[in-house]
Amino acid sequence: MKAYLLLAICVMSAAGQTSPALLAEKPGLLLSVAGDSHFLEIKDPGNRAWMLQSSSDLKAWADGPTHRVFNGVLRVPAAGADRKQFYRLNPELAQPLPSSAARALRLPATPFNYANPVFPPVFASQVGALDNQPADNVVTNTGATLGRVLFYDKRLSANQSTSCASCHQAEHGFADTRPLSVGFAGEKTHRNSMGLTNTRYHLGGKYLWDERAASLEVQVLMPIQDPIEMGTTLPIVVERLSAEPFYAELFTAAFGTAEINSTRISRALAQFIRSISSANTKLDIAQETNFANFTPQELLGREVFSNRCSTCHSNVNFTTIAPSKNGLELPIVDKGVGGVTGLTFDDGRFKVTTLRNVELTAPYMHDGRFKTLEEVVEFYNSGVEFVDGLGFPLPFFEKTRGGMNLTQAEKDGLVAFMKTLTDTSVTTDEKFSDPFRYQAE
Ligand code: HEC
Ligand code: HEC
Repeated sequence: MKAYLLLAICVMSAAGQTSPALLAEKPGLLLSVAGDSHFLEIKDPGNRAWMLQSSSDLKAWADGPTHRVFNGVLRVPAAGADRKQFYRLNPELAQPLPSSAARALRLPATPFNYANPVFPPVFASQVGALDNQPADNVVTNTGATLGRVLFYDKRLSANQSTSCASCHQAEHGFADTRPLSVGFAGEKTHRNSMGLTNTRYHLGGKYLWDERAASLEVQVLMPIQDPIEMGTTLPIVVERLSAEPFYAELFTAAFGTAEINSTRISRALAQFIRSISSANTKLDIAQETNFANFTPQELLGREVFSNRCSTCHSNVNFTTIAPSKNGLELPIVDKGVGGVTGLTFDDGRFKVTTLRNVELTAPYMHDGRFKTLEEVVEFYNSGVEFVDGLGFPLPFFEKTRGGMNLTQAEKDGLVAFMKTLTDTSVTTDEKFSDPFRYQAE
């Protein structure tokens, strides 16, 4: 045993059934059985090639194929599904390997199209005025490709356990399912993770729930240095990326030379996030077809929404230029914008987030207090607190806790309408997916 840092065992039952289980975990390395039972998953934040050895009796070990893990997750087909089989990774046989982008990452030979997204006419005609892309960081295909790799790279966290995507998962609208996310060392974040759909079309161009980041370029470097989220420093990240040969290729393709610095990291990440655009929802299709595809319930919901909600969740992207107060709580626990400006009048003021893909980003609000869209609607219907500066048309005349007094049909309609803003063509698009996730041949 001394020779092996890790002994991972996969026991297959006679029927060939294996329950999804974590078999063994050491810091930085994990061997597990994936959900569909005949795969092993190896995770390794280092750049190593591992030899997978197998045995049926734990005595005689046969050398298996050597696999590179690419600082990510490797799925390896597990042999012997119908009998007992044990697997181990022998650290003495693990070799650091130099890598090229082509060998280390699953990237297309010609970069995906990020620079020129194709939008349907109505969306295209409205979205231009909302665009916050700065002239000195225009999205390019190679820049966003680099940003994609960085977004999924765990090297960006102190112990190489956490990438941006740990808390911004594509299938959840680039948010996660927890009220508060979990950072690199297991601590909880102070607020709910935010979805990243169409951040480019937030006219205000300010980010985070309290809008303390003046641009996406500023925001993307904050999680790396946040003591809870990723907990590292920019010099350490630059050093780590510089030690990885494939980054020299990606930085050269994006910026002309191989130099790696925090400005370039920020620009590439911002380009990638700006490129996550959605214009293919049921609502977008409806805009082109006179709402022929909408059900009566969705039509009712759209009407209620435009009367009651669209002062704040306005325009084609359902945001506003400035943060607002929706009376979520009293007394105010999280001051939001007030914590940044120091003005009492800003206490309880928060970013009006886009509602695109909102069906996928549960739970809701800056503290993740609502589990479902039904709960959100019931809050607006009956639970709005009267706070100083409450936004229109929330019930500020009543001067007491209250709401919109909607009928059940109107409430159901609102939920149905919000679900027409879902766009899984974005959340499943390979160009936004994890380039470190490999399946061994
Ligand atoms: C540990 C979880 C976690 C990690 C890791 C993380 N984020 Fe976030 N992200 C959050 C939370 C929580 C918020 C809201 C924080 C707040 O408002 O204070 C957020 C907010 C954001 C926003 C603001 C969106 C908006 O509309 O205002 C962007 C953009 C973003 N993250 C990008 C990134 C990038 C890029 C990375 C990697 C460099 C990253 N995040 C890593 C949890 C995380
Ligand atoms: C006065 C402005 C205002 C109005 C009107 C308003 N909202 Fe909001 N909405 C906000 C703000 C601000 C937030 C974020 C608040 C927070 O997290 O503290 C928010 C958050 C939300 C969220 C959660 C988004 C997320 O990503 O967690 C949903 C869903 C939502 N609103 C739907 C609605 C609906 C439906 C209506 C109409 C019934 C409505 N809003 C009316 C300002 C408003």
